[in-house]
Amino acid sequence: MKKLIMAAAMGVVITAGGALAADGKAIFQSKGCAACHNPTVDTVGPSLKKIAQVYAGKLDELIAFLKGQGKPHVDPAKFPIMQPQLNQLKSLSDAEIKALAEYMLSVK
Ligand code: HEC
Repeated sequence: MKKLIMAAAMGVVITAGGALAADGKAIFQSKGCAACHNPTVDTVGPSLKKIAQVYAGKLDELIAFLKGQGKPHVDPAKFPIMQPQLNQLKSLSDAEIKALAEYMLSVK
């Protein structure tokens, strides 16, 4: 019986990990980010693929940008279009911002 409970608990941990990335995607879509950011094609904003390349290995810097504390690295000339979008993220918790950043970096 104890073993069963352990296994169940571990199952929850594993699914929670998977749900984190899914949450990031849900946040990305619910906040309207997808309107300007296509996964692979540059539209109004750079593609997620391009953002993921620039921020590869720099999760902390991407989190700082999303919190309005970082500088634009991808296309600074167009930052005035992006800047007001950051207001959408002000109500998010740190965990939600992290999930969002992790989702954005997961697009290849
Ligand atoms: C109205 C169009 C538009 C919307 C909506 C939009 N963006 Fe952007 N985004 C841009 C443009 C244009 C750029 C390029 C300027 C720049 O690099 O900052 C950009 C750049 C970015 C970058 C790269 C920042 C960097 O270092 O240069 C990130 C990350 C980003 N957007 C995240 C988001 C997220 C998250 C949302 C949803 C809350 C969002 N964007 C919504 C237009 C948009």
